[in-house]
Parts: sequence; structure tokens; C-alpha cells
Amino acid sequence: MADRKTLQATEQTIQKQYAYIDKIKDITTEISNKEGRQPTYDIRVFGCQMNEHDAEKIAGMLDDMGYSKVTEGDKADIIVFDTCCVRENAEEKVYGHLGLLKPSDDDEKKSVVAITGCMMQQPHVVEKIKKSYRHVGIVFGTHNLYTFPELLYKYLTKGKRIFDVWDTEGQIVEGTPITRAENVKAWVNIMLGCNNFCSYCIVPYVRGRERSRNKQDIVDEVQRLADAGYKEITLLGQNVNSYGNDLGKKDAFADLLYAINDIQGIERIRFMTSHPKDLSDSLITAIKELPKVCEHLHLPFQSGSSRVLKEMNRKYTKEHYLGLIDKVREQVPGISFTTDIIVGFPGETEEDFLETLDVVKKVRFDQAFTFLYSKRTGTKAAKFENQIDEDVKKERFQRLVDLQNSIGEEINQTYDGKIVEVLVEGISRNKDTMYTGRTREYKLVNFPCDEDLTGKLVKVKIVKSRPFWLEGAVIPEGEIS
Ligand code: SAH
Ligand code: SF4
Ligand code: F3S
Repeated sequence: MADRKTLQATEQTIQKQYAYIDKIKDITTEISNKEGRQPTYDIRVFGCQMNEHDAEKIAGMLDDMGYSKVTEGDKADIIVFDTCCVRENAEEKVYGHLGLLKPSDDDEKKSVVAITGCMMQQPHVVEKIKKSYRHVGIVFGTHNLYTFPELLYKYLTKGKRIFDVWDTEGQIVEGTPITRAENVKAWVNIMLGCNNFCSYCIVPYVRGRERSRNKQDIVDEVQRLADAGYKEITLLGQNVNSYGNDLGKKDAFADLLYAINDIQGIERIRFMTSHPKDLSDSLITAIKELPKVCEHLHLPFQSGSSRVLKEMNRKYTKEHYLGLIDKVREQVPGISFTTDIIVGFPGETEEDFLETLDVVKKVRFDQAFTFLYSKRTGTKAAKFENQIDEDVKKERFQRLVDLQNSIGEEINQTYDGKIVEVLVEGISRNKDTMYTGRTREYKLVNFPCDEDLTGKLVKVKIVKSRPFWLEGAVIPEGEIS
């Protein structure tokens, strides 16, 4: 059974959906009795952690409706796409996958195909799906994710295609069932939407304005996670530093961290994403003071050129960003930084790009997520005339990646021989002879071990640094002095 929280303000709204969940459960029970098999679902997620977490909500609803997750290689009864539109290639991937699903006449089993996520908040995309992807049965958006049971029930009983995308955000609906993908660490939304309107970015258009969840709802959810044995939580928001602004509260994010730090059983707290324009002193103090808040900050800078930053509407300069890094390092020695960088924003000159490389060299990030600028219809920057040639973008991108890779590798080498604390997440996906986990600084560590230490905090000695991860050996408890 998925995690259902105690119902409150939005009780009636969610209660209605629970009624549909129960009605679908009757349908799936009948199928199970008749066919001797439980109907299945497959969720395909594109995009960021927000979507990963939304997919956990979709899974929660489907589990409660009596569907089970499909085993690999099988064709599911219901296939749900949770889509992203932050860059063009994210959208192309979705169309590619959808195309492959077009049914042929001799298909024995026809799946119900449903699509949600950020891409669906764009009317031109919905039109295209309507016309060219006729095997898609249900289209819904980010603001009405929780109505999926109702839409699915109507589709299953009437058989007509459903297009239901809301163009404005409503209140936050608490109480959606959730089936979490992992059992050591969990995502917790603290706010939805974004008010920043960076000129390149589509997110504010597809996720709506900032809305913060009530502190008590968040604390209750984390408490339930702790009770269920979760050890690490990551608080999610497009800009967590703005948490509480819409509730009229100041310093609410730091305050929330203090409350969560008090929850017994939770060992580590992470959060993302922070915006440099309003990274507050109270947050830096919280990272410094609170033992469970990890020494890692994801702080996207996007471009090193103050001129480009202005065009991007980021509301800070290169100097301000570098000053922030210094301030955080002074307060929290040993903290690691990761970042997001865009290459080839309209009008970016070679000089502007060199400023970006300069920030990378000065800060020495542990990891950088680097993106080629992608023109997004509807954003301000899409109308800028001086778009950059693809070849130039790619050439700069490669120089940036080469620089960052060498810095990342050098930082990893400093770990050789060090003893670090790792929260063990389970068997490594890529190396199934090893267990995997992360340090407080978010370094990926893989190590061989005979005993299953999943969910435990262990001391690991780094025996070999690799460009993108660290290889370690567990130190038995008795040997730690
Ligand atoms: N809210 C977060 C990030 C959301 S999107 C923040 O502000 O940091 C994740 C990253 O995608 C952004 O940080 C940015 O680097 C990148 N991105 C967003 N729009 C883009 C676009 N049009 N082209 C290329 N990269 C983009
Ligand atoms: Fe996009 Fe900027 Fe909002 Fe991040 S802060 S989601 S980059 S508009
Ligand atoms: Fe995330 Fe992509 Fe939407 S980055 S918020 S899933 S547009």
C-alpha cells in the first residue's frame, strides 16, 4: 500500500480521487480473477527530480488501483510518460519513445498510453499529440496530476480520448498516495513552481507560480519517512531559498531545516535547488550549525559573464557569485559545490565564455551539469536575434567539459587514502559486485562487501579515485578509532 497521509485542507478534493481509485480497483480485481494475472503499469520519466518525484505519486496511485509494476521486457497494460521540456532534446526523446509505441494490427495487447509532465503544459504539444499520436489515450498536465484516477476511470469506462490540461495552478493538494522508488533516501517537495523567469527557461510557464507547502505538512511527511526507516531526505523546489515567501514568512527555509534536523531517524538532509540571488546568511548558518545538513551546495551559476547574466535575468553578477562561494567556504570548510552551466546563450561572445571558464577554474566545482542553450518557444530569450551558431556552441561546450572533467578528477584524487562516511544505498546499478553510496559531500563511492549494509552509515577508506567516482573498502566497526 502506498503512503497516504492524514487528510486535511484539501480533503474533499483528494477524497474524490480515492473514490475513483477504489472504482478502478474493482476493475483490476475483475481482470485478475478472470485472467489470473494482475494488470501492470510502466512509468517512463524524463527530466528533473520534480518529475522523478511526481512519478512516485503516479506509481502510488496505480499501486492503490491494483496495478503492479511491469517486469522488464513485458508490455504493460498502462504506460505513463512523465515528460520534460526544459531543452529541445528532452522533447525529442519523448516523441521518439511515443513513436515506437504506435500499435500495429497484429499487436495482441494494446496498452493504455497516458502522458503528463511539463511538455503537456504547452498547447502546441497537446495539438501535435492529438493529431499525430492517436494511440495516446490520456493527456494531463502538471497542475492536475492528482486527478489521474478520475481521468483513467473515465477513459477505461468510456473509451474516449481525454485531454485535460489546466493552465493555472490551484492550491497544493496534500495526500496523494506515493510509492517511493528507493528505501534509504527520499524526495520531499517543499514548494512548487517558480517566479524567477530566467529569460531562457520554460519552467515558470509549465509549473506555475511559487507555492509553498505548509511547514507542518512537510515535517509530518519527513516524520513518516523516518518511521518507515528512511535515512536521507532531499527537499525539492525550483528555488528553495524562496520557501515561505508566499506564506509571508521570512527565513522560512532555514527555519524548516532546523525543524527537520530534530526528526529522529533521519541522518542526512539535502536540498535543491538554491538560487544565488537569494542564498541567505540564515541558510549558510543552518548548513554550518545543523549536524544533519550535508556539506554540499548545488548552486547553478549558468554563465560567468555579468553581461550575459543580466540578459538571462539571473539578478546577480559574476563577482557576487564568487563572493558567495567564498563566504560559504569560510563558514563551512570542506563543503563541496556543484553547478549548472549554459553554453551558447544568445549573444555569448568568446570573452563571455572565457568568463564562464574563469568561474569554473576559480570555484573548482566537484561536478557541473553543462547544457547547450536550447531555444524554448514562449521564453524571452527565444526572441533574441543573436542566436549562436551550433558549431560554436559545441566547440565551447567541449572546452568547458574538458576543463571541468580535469578539475573533477583532481578533486577526486585528493580523496585517495581518506576515510569517509558513506550512507549505503544498495548494490551499484553499474557494478553489481559492489555496494554504492555517497559521502556527505555527495561523492559517489562504490565498494565490495559481503554483508548487506544498505541503509547504514559506514566508514569507507578510499583505495582508488576514478574520474567520476571513488573506489573504497569498508572499515569494520571495531577498527575505527
Ligand atoms: N530551478 C533550477 C533549475 C531548473 S532547470 C535553477 O534555477 O537552478 C535545470 C537547468 O537546466 C538549469 O539550471 C539550466 O542550467 C538548464 N536550462 C534551463 N533552461 C535551459 C535552456 N533553455 N537551454 C539550456 N539549458 C537550460
Ligand atoms: Fe528556470 Fe530560473 Fe526558475 Fe530555475 S530559477 S526554474 S532556471 S526560471
Ligand atoms: Fe523539470 Fe523538465 Fe519540468 S527540468 S520542472 S521536468 S521542464
